[in-house]
Amino acid sequence: TGMFTYDPGFTSTGSCESAITYIDGDAGVLTHRGYNITDLAENCSFLEVAYLLLNGDLPNRTEFEGFERAITLHTMVHEQIHKFFEGFRRDAHPMAVMCGVVGGLAAFYHDSTDIDDAHHRMIASHRLIAKMPTIAAWAHKYAMGQPLMYPRNDLRYASDFLHMMFAVPCEPYHVSPVLSKAMDRILILHADHEQNASTSTVRLTGSSGANPFACVAAGIASLWGPAHGGANEAVLTMLTQIGTLDRVPEYVKRAKDKDDPFRLMGFGHRVYKNYDPRAKIMARTCHEVLEELGVKDPLLDVAMELERIALEDEYFIEKKLYPNVDFYSGIIFKAMGIPVSMFTAIFALARTTGWVAQWNEMITDPVQKIGRPRQLFRGKDHRDFVPMDKR
Ligand code: CMC
Repeated sequence: TGMFTYDPGFTSTGSCESAITYIDGDAGVLTHRGYNITDLAENCSFLEVAYLLLNGDLPNRTEFEGFERAITLHTMVHEQIHKFFEGFRRDAHPMAVMCGVVGGLAAFYHDSTDIDDAHHRMIASHRLIAKMPTIAAWAHKYAMGQPLMYPRNDLRYASDFLHMMFAVPCEPYHVSPVLSKAMDRILILHADHEQNASTSTVRLTGSSGANPFACVAAGIASLWGPAHGGANEAVLTMLTQIGTLDRVPEYVKRAKDKDDPFRLMGFGHRVYKNYDPRAKIMARTCHEVLEELGVKDPLLDVAMELERIALEDEYFIEKKLYPNVDFYSGIIFKAMGIPVSMFTAIFALARTTGWVAQWNEMITDPVQKIGRPRQLFRGKDHRDFVPMDKR
């Protein structure tokens, strides 16, 4: 049967070659196509970063305008998709809605499901990036019992998403530039992170030749879990549960207890064994947003106290557990008025860009083949068959 390495959780398996994202976990460095994440988050718009991930270089003005036009061409979803939403319970989790609706896109866009055709691949990529904000915002609107708002192509990507989230047809809605900037930055910080669980899922799904809409739906499912994208939701739930500053030590103690399954959500990372560079930018953005909005959130104090205590604690130091990207994003979302259940959905909409870029890279990689891990069989060796009435 040949030899292979047993590597649970793929902690030491390289699954592909990639030129998109580089992480130096020990140094706490993250780059996309060679550009430092801090430079990108501070100077670019999300669609610029999306272009970079997809095409390899930052766009010049003409290229950017062309890309933005190509994306806005696809911001609406097929009108029948409206009906999908009505099939869900109003209290459905937005991630459940996203899994279903995004998977269903393949049934509508047959002219972009031929993965061997470069034009099809490009259109599918643009469609996915363009439609995710619409689908995510509609999941929210549906839960609220409010009319679903159509996209507005005169607005920038992040502003359009906020508009679809918060506007209602009966009165004008002005997207706050502070919120728009913060959302744009959050999207950039979540855009790609090399071969994480959901991206690996997208690649594995795509390796069988499945269409990109199905692949991204699989990525959304993988992202949903609390050890991955679901962590931002779990962080806020945890901070709410802790509630007050005096209770922080108790929870830090619980996190260290081997017999207690409780973990500090938003702490630790498979690759970063130093501060997550995204968390640094997120922390700064969080303070800026709360200040500009004039929001005083006691949960931010709890978060800061938690960070302070954990960073001084031997357990966390020894295990190299630092706040990750999800630690602060939830507090920003909360200040923006975004419900907790939407946090992971927003992560999914941002990560779609990375998924799509990685999927394209995989499809055009000449050595790519179907992903097919092996196993160590630990079951029974041989058993004689026994008819049912003799068992
Ligand atoms: N709180 C307390 N202890 C922890 C934590 C934590 N958050 N994270 C890891 N540990 C301990 C863990 O118990 C283990 O201890 P020991 O070696 O004594 O058994 C050790 O640290 C190593 O943990 P691991 O689970 O083997 O590490 P991993 O690389 O498999 O897991 C992780 C990484 C992110 C899943 C994990 O750190 C975790 O569960 N964190 C909380 C959830 C979270 O914030 N996830 C978001 C990740 S970043 C965004 C994203 O990718 O979506």
